[in-house]
Amino acid sequence: MSSKGSYAFLDNKPAQQEMAREILAGLKTQPKTLSPKYFYDAQGSALFDQITELDEYYLTRTEMALFDTHLVDIAQHLGGNVCLIEYGSGSSVKIRKLLQTVTPAAYVPVDISDEHLQANARALHKDFPALNVLPVCADFTQRFELPAAVADMTKVGFFPGSSIGNFDPQGAQRFLENVHATVGPGGAMLVGVDRKKSVSVLEQAYNDKQGVTAAFNLNVLTHINNELDADFEPQQFSHVARYNPQLGCIQMFLRSDVKQRVEIAGETISFVEGEELHTENSYKYDPDEFLALADSAGFGSLAQFSDSRAYFTLYLLQAR
Ligand SMILES: C[S@@+](CC[C@H](N)C(=O)[O-])C[C@H]1O[C@@H](n2cnc3c(N)ncnc32)[C@H](O)[C@@H]1O
Repeated sequence: MSSKGSYAFLDNKPAQQEMAREILAGLKTQPKTLSPKYFYDAQGSALFDQITELDEYYLTRTEMALFDTHLVDIAQHLGGNVCLIEYGSGSSVKIRKLLQTVTPAAYVPVDISDEHLQANARALHKDFPALNVLPVCADFTQRFELPAAVADMTKVGFFPGSSIGNFDPQGAQRFLENVHATVGPGGAMLVGVDRKKSVSVLEQAYNDKQGVTAAFNLNVLTHINNELDADFEPQQFSHVARYNPQLGCIQMFLRSDVKQRVEIAGETISFVEGEELHTENSYKYDPDEFLALADSAGFGSLAQFSDSRAYFTLYLLQAR
């Protein structure tokens, strides 16, 4: 590739019918469930960016500080001719920090939210003109195609923000197996994982005083209204987030404040008063638990970095 980086967009976005099918299937199970991927329309992405700035939300600050301290080390491990693939790139904030030290040949941001993905990928390409920026709109829970231009590069998956905690442990293993198949033997993965800690610290992080996390949680209903011509009334639901000690995870719900019926894509879904719609899991892993999970998906540990409070760990994994 030339010293002037290229920009090319690959569209593997799931069809609208797939969204309707998956959402209705989740609302017909007991308890009712929605996938966290539907949080992210433009408003959801903006609210998530606000969450990362909140006093209570220690995750982003702690992970960013780990990057500051350990990026030189990480860059040395990665070597040259690297293609960095970010799973759920969002506003591409963290990659900007990495790019101050790690100089990949290509950056492949993967996200389901296509307009947000393209806007951020274009802005990044403008700021890093030598970098090949090759965004892919896809659902990263499914296998997806990489741009042909990166075929000969060493692939490194990048999954920050403890987003891996949104899967249950079986789902996390399946996801890591998919990443393994994408990066191939000799490829690597840099993943940020939130750790188990005091329940009050965890619960405060998802119940901020300003109500930004509540607005983020409720916005999933507005997103579904807009995409699927549904008639959720978000003001009839309340945000709930609590730690489940058996599962080792924060669980978020939207509690129906009244008995109500909602029309979605031509079907009617009923809620009883007090019923909780499950919207997100955030599993927390101690290092031995996470490394066992990574090992079961074919990854060994190259390095790991934690903060002094042992709140968060960055793992650099190598695919066997
Ligand atoms: C919490 S943001 C993380 C942004 C960024 N990686 C960070 O840590 O700052 C999650 C992003 O993942 C995307 N996302 C969530 N589920 C996804 C899925 N199944 N497939 C593709 N993108 C997904 C969302 O659209 C959103 O932009």
